[in-house]
Formats: sequence, C-alpha cells, structure tokens
Amino acid sequence: MRTVIYYFSGTGNSLAVARDLAKQLNDSEVELINLATITIHEFKILSADRIGIVFPVYMWHMPHMVATFINKLLIDKSKYVFAIATYDGIAGNVINQVKKQFRLRRIKLAAGFLIKMPTNYIPLFNPMPVEEQQKIFADKDQKILILASYIKRNQRGRFENSSIFTNLFFSGFLGKLGYKRIPAMDRYFILNDKCNGCEVCYRICPAKNILMKNNCPQWTHKCEQCLACLQWCPEGAIEFMKLTRNRKKYHHPDIKYGDLVIR
Ligand SMILES: Cc1cc2nc3c(=O)[nH]c(=O)nc-3n(C[C@H](O)[C@H](O)[C@H](O)COP(=O)(O)O)c2cc1C
Repeated sequence: MRTVIYYFSGTGNSLAVARDLAKQLNDSEVELINLATITIHEFKILSADRIGIVFPVYMWHMPHMVATFINKLLIDKSKYVFAIATYDGIAGNVINQVKKQFRLRRIKLAAGFLIKMPTNYIPLFNPMPVEEQQKIFADKDQKILILASYIKRNQRGRFENSSIFTNLFFSGFLGKLGYKRIPAMDRYFILNDKCNGCEVCYRICPAKNILMKNNCPQWTHKCEQCLACLQWCPEGAIEFMKLTRNRKKYHHPDIKYGDLVIR
C-alpha cells in the first residue's frame, strides 16, 4: 500500500497536518509532495494506491492552484482519493467544491475532512495567543487519529462542510465576490525600506508569483494570497496595506522556511 499526500501551504498549517497524518498512516509507505513543486509532466501518478490532498481554505474556497491541480491530475478511478482542508473559523462548502472538481474529471472523492488550525489571516486578525494555538493543535491531533483510522480502512462517504445557510452566504455570496479577485490582490503588498533583497519571498512563494527586480520583489498578479511572502520575510519588510504593520507575523511553530521553500 502506497499513499501520496499532496499539500499546498503558505504558513505551514497544512503541511503540519499532512505530516501528522503521514505518521499515523503507518499501514503504508507515505510520500509527501508540495503541490507547488510539481511540473505538468508529474501529474500522472502510477503507483500510489491512495492519494490525499491537504490545503488551506481561502475565502471559503480552495486555492486556485488546488483547483488547477485537480483539473490536471491523471489517475485511474480505482484509487482512494481524500481531501483535507485546514481553516481557522468558517470553511464553507469547500469540501463539496473539491468533490465537484474531482467529479468533473470523473474521479470520485472518497472522503473530505476539515481541520481547524490557527488563523494566518493577519490583515484582519491578530495571530492567536500561544495557549489558544496549543489547544487547537491538541484538538487537531485527536482528529488526525480519527481520520487516519478512517483512511486506513479506505472508508468512504464522509464529507465535512459547514451548514447550508453558512455555505450559501459565505462560499456563495461573499466568497464568489472575493475569490475571483485573489490573483490580483498582491497589489496591496507594500515593501518598506527594511528589504535587503534576501529573496526569501521569491523562494517561498508557492505560486511563483514573485520576480526579483533591482534586488526587490515584484508581484505578478497570479497571487494565491497565501501570505507566505509577508509571513516568512525575516526583515518584516512586507506588509498588506497598513493592516499588518503592527501585527505579529504567523507561521506554524514546527514548520521551518526550508520545509516550504520551492526554489
Ligand atoms: C487569503 C486567506 C483567506 C482565508 N480564508 C479563510 C476562510 O474563508 N475561512 C477560514 O476558516 N479560514 C480562512 N483562512 C485561514 C486559513 O485557511 C488557515 O489559517 C489555514 O490553516 C492556513 O494554512 P497554511 O498555513 O497551510 O497556509 C484564510 C487565510 C488566508 C491567508
């Protein structure tokens, strides 16, 4: 039995979940692959029996790159395919969206789960206090045990989504307005004079949305809004409008820059 888990992660929450799950799937050889590192030629998976995809919820939707990944994935229908979305408060019907995206490719999603993690959306919220984060991580550990046992038995049929009214309002009305605008939202990133051209942002951006020009990052409007550039900048040189100026930056405490760097 071989499992491949693809992950998309800006600040490490989804990678941490993928890693924890991999440890618990001790019935199989597990390979973790950063979705941002694969090329078009690598979308075909020949030898995995199970395929998982772990990603964060953005504006009550899946990241655009996750949708693209599903659209290009070439796998045969016998595989057991599962999805896990990490979120900080309201996930909406993102799992149903993933299910539909797979259905369009004639692939049946076996199960889809939600795992609550600390917020990384610091343009709106302060990072959670450490004690609150610890509580969320403890709940996550419990949930991963349950999911791992579900997945190990190749069970099917569990699809976790928010309530129907929440979905209509957030994933439907509000989300649709915002989701389309995500790629160009990088125009709100501001570079201050602390930038020393270290290229951390360029190297970690999963969308390869950053070019370095005259030793400074330039965003090219295919942004995922994962905030990796802003959150991982060692100098605190990148802000989102004025909203993040006085906010502590966030990334998952167990995930290091080197774990997410893609070039
Ligand atoms: C642009 C953006 C939009 C987000 N939208 C939502 C959302 O709609 N609902 C939610 O519960 N969390 C939302 N979040 C929070 C993330 O989904 C959550 O913190 C996730 O675990 C981050 O994963 P990562 O560290 O792997 O990038 C959003 C975060 C960002 C950066």
